[in-house]
Amino acid sequence: MSQQERPGSSATGGVNRRLVLAGLAGGVASAGLTGPSAAAAAPAGRPERDRRVEALLGKMTLAEKIGQLQLVGDETTARAALAAGRLGGVFSVVGAAKLNALQRIAVERTRLGIPLVFGLDVIHGYTTNFPIPLAQGASFDPAVAGTDAAVSAGEARRSGIHWTYAPMMDVTHEPRWGRIAEGYGEDPYLAARFAVAKVRGYQGDDYSAPDRVAACAKHFVAYGGAEGGRDYNTVDVSLQRLHNLYLPPFKASVEAGVATVMASFNTISGVPAHGNGYVLHDVLKGAYGFRGFVVSDYTGIEELILHGLAGDGADAAAAALPAGVDMEMVSTNYARFAERLLAERRITRDQIDDAVRRILLVKFRLGLFERPYVDEATEVKAPSPAALAASRQVAARCMVLLKNDGPVLPLAKTVGSVAVVGPLGAATYDLNGTWAGLGTGAGTTPPVTVVDGIKAAVPGAAVSYTPGCTADGTDTGGFAAAQQAARAADVTVVVVGETAAMSGEAAARSTIDLPGVQQQLVAAIKETGKPFVVVLVNGRPLTIPYLHENAPAILEAWAPGVQGGHAIADVLFGVVNPGGKLPVSFPRAVGQIPVYYNHENTGRPADPASKYTSKYLDLPSGPLYEFGHGLSYTTFRVDGLRLSGTSLPARGGRIEVSATVTNTGGRDGDEVVQLYLRDPVATIVQPVRRLRGFRRVTLAAGASTTVSFTLTPDDVGFYDNTARFRVEPGKIEVYVGTSSAATLSASFMVV
Ligand code: NOJ
Repeated sequence: MSQQERPGSSATGGVNRRLVLAGLAGGVASAGLTGPSAAAAAPAGRPERDRRVEALLGKMTLAEKIGQLQLVGDETTARAALAAGRLGGVFSVVGAAKLNALQRIAVERTRLGIPLVFGLDVIHGYTTNFPIPLAQGASFDPAVAGTDAAVSAGEARRSGIHWTYAPMMDVTHEPRWGRIAEGYGEDPYLAARFAVAKVRGYQGDDYSAPDRVAACAKHFVAYGGAEGGRDYNTVDVSLQRLHNLYLPPFKASVEAGVATVMASFNTISGVPAHGNGYVLHDVLKGAYGFRGFVVSDYTGIEELILHGLAGDGADAAAAALPAGVDMEMVSTNYARFAERLLAERRITRDQIDDAVRRILLVKFRLGLFERPYVDEATEVKAPSPAALAASRQVAARCMVLLKNDGPVLPLAKTVGSVAVVGPLGAATYDLNGTWAGLGTGAGTTPPVTVVDGIKAAVPGAAVSYTPGCTADGTDTGGFAAAQQAARAADVTVVVVGETAAMSGEAAARSTIDLPGVQQQLVAAIKETGKPFVVVLVNGRPLTIPYLHENAPAILEAWAPGVQGGHAIADVLFGVVNPGGKLPVSFPRAVGQIPVYYNHENTGRPADPASKYTSKYLDLPSGPLYEFGHGLSYTTFRVDGLRLSGTSLPARGGRIEVSATVTNTGGRDGDEVVQLYLRDPVATIVQPVRRLRGFRRVTLAAGASTTVSFTLTPDDVGFYDNTARFRVEPGKIEVYVGTSSAATLSASFMVV
């Protein structure tokens, strides 16, 4: 097989790509049924802008075109590449003056003056860190992601950054995978809703605006399927799972107008994403009609050699460009080999033009030709009071009350003394979690610690801090002092979990227990017999059956960002009533992974009373805390489930589902009403439940409201193993409630 054929012919991992394409096309063509947007439905770019792109393209030499395909990650390389006329963009260089200086060379000293695009990983904040994306998913309120994105975009763009490498939208069933922190958890619908909110928050209606940036949907695709949760690892995935589980957030982001997409490091059924013509060319650019550009993830093109898809750099470039990677980050295989590959007819002029056209289009849309420079006076070097207030509010909204016996929480503001114990009780930058942007390190203001947050919340109380142990050490020598502090206080807040470096890229863990001796520290505090609560600071689900059995209350605070200590105190003292829900299941033990709510039933669903069913001998079935779980300081009742009809026409039908939610407790609070569907009989077995609607509502004590959801054929259909979207006749079960264990149910027929 020639290199030219390689990305195309084997990209679906042995599945006949023509058949698959026919399926994709069929999904669209079968009138009225929803499937991937047809290529024909590609959003019409503004013709004037397209004309400018074509006019510029017409003036470019081959070398200038190839230059546009190169992205580099430091100033020195950027200057050298600019001098050689081979540069399209720069990332990870910050500072308005530095960026303007580079831009000046591109605009004023190259033949055509094409501006550079400046990228950066602005993941959950530029200078103002918001909670990590997984935490944001727990808010079950996409507006939270919109707030982060809008604040971040404003700070970044005013500082000269045009393009962020976010949102990350990799659905995963793997809590061992460190990058679970960067996405929205285990559900494709939830992830899609957050991804869209984030894309809109970054880009607004027009990302040429001085406070908006171009977004990048990443990592395309199925990166969250890494075997064993080990980062960068192999992904072997069926077409139905690819389309039903991993692709929906990307499809939704393309429909929301995302400017760019980043390829993922993994293979997809034997073909690395960077050489995978099926996912990039056929699905993303073809079926979804994506018109922006695809950037490699770092040296992802070069890595095709180690993957074993390419023999050398030229081979790698010959695989990646036709597959659909338009811009090469860091490695330089396009720059070095494209001319030769063209002469050898291993790539085509059209392929180069298409890549350049896409990059230029985004540069035009960014308004870089009109305004290549940033006003250095507007550079944002530190969070504003408004941004900090937004971060604090968002952080509290993301917290999940896992358990609250007694109830011990909220703590009384009249408390006389509080002992803060645990290695994360005085943590600063660890509260930012992974990808802390410019808000971490020398010269920045550290996040508010939990102990300082508590001191500010109860200025009249005596507040002590005793670490007890480190986050991952084995020394228990500090336990005695921690116990002493607990004995001396009215209540102890034990803050345990993970440091920032324990999640994120290249931060897989083989166990996801509390690291080090932190669990023993909790046990030592329990031993004192004094009241205590546990606050978790972490970037992934943890296996915490011990805490569940022994701690009176557990507040999941995640990595809450720069205002973390204040936000945690807001929740602990009831200024904010927690309303977050888990966007991911919490396993009981690592050996149970993957454990996720949207699983298939098997022919022998788990039954504790029957041996030959799908379960472990040594563990109860199901997770410790299910997807969608989260408590409040008040209580809610959901009832009155009603459907507007008994049938949903497969072509263009709609059905309304509504239910009443009542705050039955004594405090104002938030509840997330969740709607799940199940298709009990289908040609591809369906998940036991899948989320298709959620709404977070705030209700005064005693108040109630009606929440309605509209279902369309989109909500009941699924992709089959030819990537065809099917809406099949038959019964659909509806479940509405306050977690994925909802029991209130009804049903309708798809006709
Ligand atoms: C590698 C990461 O996988 C990706 O998410 C990030 O955007 C790039 N590096 C650039 O920093």
